[in-house]
Amino acid sequence: MQIASLEIANLRIVEQLCIEPGPGLNFIQGPNGAGKTSVLEAIYLAGRGRTFRHSDAGPLIRKGADATSVIVQFSNENTGALSRLGVRREKSRLTCRLNGKDIKKRSILAETLPLQWMGSQPQLLLGLGPEVRRRFIDLALFHVEPTYLDAMTAFQRALRQRNAALRRGPAAAVRHWHVPFDSAAAVMDRRRAALIESLLPRVRNLLERWSVEFDLAWRYRRGWGNDIALKDLLNRKVDQDLRVGYTSSGPQRAELELIADGASAEKSLSRGQQKLLVLALNLGVMDMITEAKGVAPVLLVDDLAAELDAENRARLIAELEQRHAQIFLTRMEGRALAPNKPSTVFHVEHGHLAVEV
Ligand SMILES: Nc1ncnc2c1ncn2[C@@H]1O[C@H](COP(=O)(O)OP(=O)(O)O)[C@@H](O)[C@H]1O
Ligand SMILES: [Mg+2]
Repeated sequence: MQIASLEIANLRIVEQLCIEPGPGLNFIQGPNGAGKTSVLEAIYLAGRGRTFRHSDAGPLIRKGADATSVIVQFSNENTGALSRLGVRREKSRLTCRLNGKDIKKRSILAETLPLQWMGSQPQLLLGLGPEVRRRFIDLALFHVEPTYLDAMTAFQRALRQRNAALRRGPAAAVRHWHVPFDSAAAVMDRRRAALIESLLPRVRNLLERWSVEFDLAWRYRRGWGNDIALKDLLNRKVDQDLRVGYTSSGPQRAELELIADGASAEKSLSRGQQKLLVLALNLGVMDMITEAKGVAPVLLVDDLAAELDAENRARLIAELEQRHAQIFLTRMEGRALAPNKPSTVFHVEHGHLAVEV
């Protein structure tokens, strides 16, 4: 994917900002608080219909404005399609238009403008609970397997309905959902296991190439025992689930454990090593999406330089440059992340493009 132009209005500190990004690496450069992350957030808003920041970061809409809007024009090198996507975020409403037509589903945004994003605290992917890793895998599958969303939607519905039945009873109403729950769960489990079996060896190869000094292993737990059919387990657990009021087994309990040198990666690795691991996970997914779709997603990386030494920074820049992908990186100053190939730099100050001196 290639974004040819990006127009941002009233997003956090940014009042109005228009850029024409180049192919390859695009650096968004500026001091603290200049609005660098906000530029990535604008692209993310266009591709996902929401922000990546926690609500603690305050409102996305610029103080004093009624709405944030982002317009991106981009092309898909595989299909040749040119698209114009406009997203407008009002306080309690999101409007999206693709080539002049209203679109109602965020999944269409994500399908049209595939993005891979690595935020400024990538270690959270390892340090938070299983849900963030499930979401990471499911999002990768959304892009790699066109039918995965159907299975996930069917599963979410069966889970919601079974949980509602657990709160209301009786047991027969709970059992009613076991067939759709079980069949959607089987699809999810198969796809997740296959994705992980393809992704993690790639991640290990990347880490080897970067000469990291730890050995990566992983364990995927599907959310119910390996030696039991989910349908039987659900039936057996009806009484217990009725007591607690939720469904205690299934793909909603799956976990991807990442292990470095025999212990959990979150505990055994330094912050910098964790960052390398998460970057390798993101690049592995990005490469799988590229192979599946015939076109690389746009990659957004916030503050790559932080917590990495000069050698790793140089290695990673070279790694990114190998891909035929459009990549947006924020950086404080040029020395921190120096490209080897031609790249594009946008200087941002106080939410505006600064004139180069
Ligand atoms: N809703 C808002 N309206 C105006 N300014 C905001 C809003 N939300 C955040 N900001 C300001 O935007 C700046 C954050 O920009 P950010 O993109 O995180 O900067 P950088 O990544 O360059 O450090 C901060 O100065 C913050 O106070
Ligand atoms: Mg920032």
